Amino acid sequence: MASLLLLLLSFLLGVADVHGENFRICAFNLHNFGNSKANKEAVMTILAKIISRCDVCLLQEVRDSKGTALPKLLQAIKRFDTKNQYTLLASERLGRSESYQEQYVFIYRSNTATVRDQYQYPDDLPGDEDAFSREPFVVRFRAPKTYIKEFALIPQHTTPSNATKELDALYDVLQKVRKIWKIENVMLLGDFNADCDYLPKKNRKHVRLLTDSSLHWLIADHSDTTVRLSTSCSYDRIVVHGETFNKAVVPSSAKPFNFQQEYSLTEEQALDVSDHYPVEVLLKVTGPSAFNGIVSFTSYCTVFHIFSFLIFHVLL
Ligand SMILES: *[C@@H]1O[C@H](CO)[C@@H](O)[C@H](O)[C@H]1NC(C)=O
Repeated sequence: MASLLLLLLSFLLGVADVHGENFRICAFNLHNFGNSKANKEAVMTILAKIISRCDVCLLQEVRDSKGTALPKLLQAIKRFDTKNQYTLLASERLGRSESYQEQYVFIYRSNTATVRDQYQYPDDLPGDEDAFSREPFVVRFRAPKTYIKEFALIPQHTTPSNATKELDALYDVLQKVRKIWKIENVMLLGDFNADCDYLPKKNRKHVRLLTDSSLHWLIADHSDTTVRLSTSCSYDRIVVHGETFNKAVVPSSAKPFNFQQEYSLTEEQALDVSDHYPVEVLLKVTGPSAFNGIVSFTSYCTVFHIFSFLIFHVLL
């Protein structure tokens, strides 16, 4: 019995260690994030918990007109997780009308990632000017502990009624970023509204981001990235470009993070935070490090315990 418990324990330790060490990228639509949310302590605590799980987190629908809600959010995150250092990089306010603007915001751990470059897409492609409501604010990160070391993130929160068009135009942004930075490891992420009524099946063949085989859609079509029980749509997505990037991702790690279930919230409490779940993916990290040493030691223990279990309970 004791060896069975030990076996279970070392197995659990081994699994937990492997996941703790990977590099997590997240995208979260904060649904109208501004002062009213920043003044709700319970909401800010949950946001800090969610965002501090990520090495790099893209936030969308940040509508902080007075510029005070974002600094409060960063403070809450820093207070919640003192083991890492957090930095914030925000785009300008973007939108076709003065009265409705949003910012793309990256909150990242400066101890695991640094910003190498940034690029506000000008949206002036001849023949297709002003394709986006919120032009991507592209950021190139360096993350030394990941396999690929460096990658660019293209964020997008589409306008629901124009989702097909904007998703197709993201393909042009991808080509531009590859060219100007000479980089192949590019990820596109955010609330693409890429499901249900906003992206009907018949429209999919018109979206180059879907038809080009160099792109890998990591969030499954049957996922539910919406909080409301009454809806099940895979709006929020993570797409990687190229085989190298695809292989650098931990298999099957891309998924929505159901914070309602994870933190035992009611639907109402969860909706106070957002009407979307974040989506996330893990990147593989390089070894051998001291940490990987511990992992292989626990794996060794697992094998040892399986053997002793067999010997004591089966053979003898
Ligand atoms: C949809 O896109 C077109 C141009 O690409 C733009 O003129 C129109 O305003 C957009 N619709 C919405 C609701 O943003």
